[in-house]
Amino acid sequence: MVILGIETSCDDTGVAIVEDGHRVLANRVSSQPEHQPFGGVVPEIAARRHVEALPGLLEAVLATADKELADIDAIAITRGPGLIGALLAGWCFGRGLARSCRLPYVGVHHLAAHVHGALMPSLAAGVEVPYPLLALIVSGGHTALYRVDRGPAFERLGATRDDAAGEAFDKIAKLLELGFPGGPIIDRLAADGDSQRFSLPRADLGLEFSFSGVKTAARRLALANSLPPASPEDQRVRDLAASFQCAVVDMLIDTTSRAAREQPSSGLVLAGGVAANRELRMRFATLAGDLDLPLYVSPRELSTDNAAMVAGAGYGRLGQARADELNLPARASWPLGR
Ligand code: KG4
Ligand code: ZN
Repeated sequence: MVILGIETSCDDTGVAIVEDGHRVLANRVSSQPEHQPFGGVVPEIAARRHVEALPGLLEAVLATADKELADIDAIAITRGPGLIGALLAGWCFGRGLARSCRLPYVGVHHLAAHVHGALMPSLAAGVEVPYPLLALIVSGGHTALYRVDRGPAFERLGATRDDAAGEAFDKIAKLLELGFPGGPIIDRLAADGDSQRFSLPRADLGLEFSFSGVKTAARRLALANSLPPASPEDQRVRDLAASFQCAVVDMLIDTTSRAAREQPSSGLVLAGGVAANRELRMRFATLAGDLDLPLYVSPRELSTDNAAMVAGAGYGRLGQARADELNLPARASWPLGR
């Protein structure tokens, strides 16, 4: 079954063509540098850029996959959660296409798509995924631990009480005037930094997370060292980036490790944009090794938002001929599972 995927929940416009839930025939993402000067996503700009980018991306993926619209069997679109204007751009485009081509379509949960994205390499290799899984989803808008049963069915075990991990990376990079999105910038600077130079607090909240304490402490240190505006060449900036990243990763690893001990599972999943972080990936691999569990994680370039994971996640329901009605609304807020 050939599925066209569409992703527009935040500031990346994604269109992809995926066969049978895991074979990626084409996958294009158009990012939006227009948000750079603002140090964060401007919803109005995001929605407009999606509307402009979608037709060209559709043409491009059809050409790459050597397909016509007539070869597409169904359409999977991110229905939520996300910025409502941004979601509506993809939602209306995808549903219009489904209607005019008389194709079934399905609305996909963005976080379920991230989890599916982490499983895709194993599914493509024909490796059976064992359930239940323990999944850490870390993105710009969400940080939460889930138990994932076959289906997939999700049960939330704990989430952040304040910022998402990616949001904390973005805010520290913004404070230091380093650019946006901040996660990849901090990741790069941290590689040449001393993570022991600055001492930062770690919140310890059972299966929940909090990043406001570490963020405030990092802000104080930055101001005390007269950092902003910070030069990436300044060793103190690299050391602060490394210390901050280490504190965030410590909290993510310690909480996941606690959940793994409390909730026996058959595998670990690391998903969402922050899963592109190199230190987090390394430490997660070590954790999975210590727990003697298989680790499921996307390649770095498929950890951030893309439509291949959306098309893949839509396959489960479309494969069982459970398409959505054409009058469903997009959902800015949409809890995942129980
Ligand atoms: O999943 P995603 O692309 O969009 C949302 O659904 O939010 O995640 C974007 C987030 C941003 O906050 C970005 O700074 C962060 O993922 N991110 C990273 C890295 N690459 C992206 N954070 C840390 N290290 C990275 N290498
Ligand atoms: Zn995402």
